[in-house]
Amino acid sequence: MENARLEELRKRLEDSLGSAANMEALNEIRVKFLGKKGEITRLLKSMKDISAKERPRFGQMVNDLRAMAEAALEKQQKELEKKLREARIQSEAIDVSLPARRMEYGHSHPNTRAMEEVERIFIGMGYEVVEGPEIEYEENNFEKLNIPKGHPARDEQDTFYISGNILLRTQTSSVQARVMEEGKLPIRMICPGRVFRSDAVDATHSPSFHQIEGLVVDRHVTFSDLKGTLDAFAKELFGPETKTKLRPHHFPFTEPSAEVDVSCFKCGGKGCRFCKGEGWIEILGCGMVHPHVLEMCGIDPSEYSGFAFGVGLERIAILKYEIDDMRLLYENDVRFLNQF
Ligand code: DAH
Repeated sequence: MENARLEELRKRLEDSLGSAANMEALNEIRVKFLGKKGEITRLLKSMKDISAKERPRFGQMVNDLRAMAEAALEKQQKELEKKLREARIQSEAIDVSLPARRMEYGHSHPNTRAMEEVERIFIGMGYEVVEGPEIEYEENNFEKLNIPKGHPARDEQDTFYISGNILLRTQTSSVQARVMEEGKLPIRMICPGRVFRSDAVDATHSPSFHQIEGLVVDRHVTFSDLKGTLDAFAKELFGPETKTKLRPHHFPFTEPSAEVDVSCFKCGGKGCRFCKGEGWIEILGCGMVHPHVLEMCGIDPSEYSGFAFGVGLERIAILKYEIDDMRLLYENDVRFLNQF
């Protein structure tokens, strides 16, 4: 009769172990069979009710059952732990063969592109690229460029003054004075850079924009050198079919002065929406360096002559990339910038 009870207990133990899928279930089984009030423990406690003759044999059988239960629980626990460990390793596995996540690379801003393009063209013609300060003396920005105090040309360039005679340069032309005063001749330079004017923001104005200045000073530099240079520049920048046209203009620091138009590279000069029906697009100002400017900067105008020009960088970018609002160049909206 005890045999049958033990057998039934063993069977239940084995069944429960067979369906124990996690540590909690395993613990419950341990408590149920081997705990203080567990079934096997209770059997051991009931030994006293068994006849002295039967006791050793029965005791042995219960002990065997307990040992078997402990061993089976232990084994099952090890297996479960192994399974859990393997599952964790699996879930935390790193696939070292996966390609790395790509960095998102940006690219140059359209302004930078336009600037590098202009630089490339002039470097190809033997020009040096120089830089000048954005905070400038009034003398370099105005006086030495033939724009004395009270000259009406000052009104056109609403200027940010920092103190009495120090300002944010309104034009890269200020670098002309600096380069000429260094006294190294001949000069063949361009100077890209930021300029500032107290202008309200709209589709074609910004209080801060960029210009590229050009200056050549040497013996026998003539107006036709200027014309040929700008023509070559325009053809490089806008295509070999491009024609240039000089219109007389006035700048205080050049004489004679001109504004340069290029034939519209969209319509070839017939007139279209892009050139507002004109067939021509204005791109820069230029002229022969005024003898008085040469003199003020320490160069003898009877021996040397020169030409200068100034290009608005944003204007070039806007034309080249067909942008219809200058503000887009400064807003840093990647949806816009990604298009270039
Ligand atoms: N500095 C002039 C401006 O800001 C542009 C310019 C015109 C520059 C003629 C020159 C030049 O060097 O010769 O409007």
